[in-house]
Amino acid sequence: MTRALILAGTGEFVARVNVHPGTQVVSLSRDTIESERFDLIRSLDPQSLPDIIFVGAALPMEKALDIGRKIDETYPLIDLVLVDRRAGEVPADTVVEAMRAGFRDVLPADMVEDRLRDVLRRAELHGLKAEAPPAVLGGKPVVPSQPPEESRTITVISPKGGVGKTSIATNMAIGLAEDFPSEVVLVDLDLQFGDVASALNLTPTHTIEEALTPSAAADNLVVKTMLTVHSAGFHVLCGAESPAANDEVTGLQIVRLINQLSTQFRFVIIDTAGGLPEATLAALEVTDDVVIVSTMDVACVRGVRRAVDMLAQIGLLPASRVLTLNLASNQSGMKVKDVEAAVGLPVDIVIARSNDVQLAANHGVPLMLNKKKGGPFVKSIRALITHLENMGSPSQRTHKRLDVA
Ligand SMILES: Nc1ncnc2c1ncn2[C@@H]1O[C@H](COP(=O)(O)OP(=O)(O)OP(=O)(O)O)[C@@H](O)[C@H]1O
Ligand SMILES: [Mg+2]
Repeated sequence: MTRALILAGTGEFVARVNVHPGTQVVSLSRDTIESERFDLIRSLDPQSLPDIIFVGAALPMEKALDIGRKIDETYPLIDLVLVDRRAGEVPADTVVEAMRAGFRDVLPADMVEDRLRDVLRRAELHGLKAEAPPAVLGGKPVVPSQPPEESRTITVISPKGGVGKTSIATNMAIGLAEDFPSEVVLVDLDLQFGDVASALNLTPTHTIEEALTPSAAADNLVVKTMLTVHSAGFHVLCGAESPAANDEVTGLQIVRLINQLSTQFRFVIIDTAGGLPEATLAALEVTDDVVIVSTMDVACVRGVRRAVDMLAQIGLLPASRVLTLNLASNQSGMKVKDVEAAVGLPVDIVIARSNDVQLAANHGVPLMLNKKKGGPFVKSIRALITHLENMGSPSQRTHKRLDVA
């Protein structure tokens, strides 16, 4: 059930939200909100906060932004959406101002149905993360044997294929497992053509397909039995054998699965398919840190810019992001600062092109396991891990997802 609070919405808007299945709507009129005795923050019950608050078009913009700021200061996890009074595309300066005030999204007065549905769905997914993990066994919540003090989900993405996502994710898992043995799980979320198992030379008995079944979704311990143990001291949830196996997987199933894993492991590393398929968007909903991989070619860099903009727009760009340039070479005709200018984010890690990476992958022994041959690639992966560590644990962070430079 998604709890939606609508502040100063038009009757038509309230009716539109109301008809969405699984949505419980409370609506407050402009008069109520503007009355002197009304204190919005105090009127919210911390025990049953809304998942999403729409601040409506009937209010003057300054007032709406002010409300956004106040809610965001007190309850930063509530999904805040501004509904513009104007129809058509929302002007960029309004979007920026709204995001600064803490809104995750701005909808035009004449938003299409799909857009509204996506926003409500995002709030539903977000609510699931905030709640205790949904796993139950025989009606009782499943208590993990040794829950990690704090779990961190790191997702590796890129708008393009073949840029090194799997190489980075697998080597990062090995590096992290050196410091945190048995506390790392690597998930192959490339649902169609995942190749983590082959990159690690594993022959899985179970795959992600089985980890998404209702019986696994109902029991964290069942999910754990679907994992394959790597000799370097970490677990892997391998991809399905058949590209068609996961055709029907929903974002909600992915969110549940990641939540389950994060009750068992300190680090959940997620390798994804190129582009932004639904599974990746769902993972980003519950991701603490995103590693964005680009190469030094113009098409990839432009794709990264568009992906970053889109994720920021829909509120799925985690505040903690690491822009990683892979396959870097000084013969590409682009410089690091050109990439930064085009993407609008600083490049955090540069990984040089090195033939050893491919050679190692072809043998199923990632470079991170070959200390002698490690060289610059291993150094860069260690720098990436250190960079993530320096970003602090999720609970130490004060800011939330949004904005691009
Ligand atoms: N720094 C590097 N130097 C040289 N080769 C690399 C480097 N990083 C990755 N590769 C090679 O590039 C190829 C693609 O890498 P990888 O499979 O990791 O990319 P991907 O983004 O996961 O691809 P896909 O989108 O198909 O899943 C592999 O052969 C890998 O060994
Ligand atoms: Mg891959």
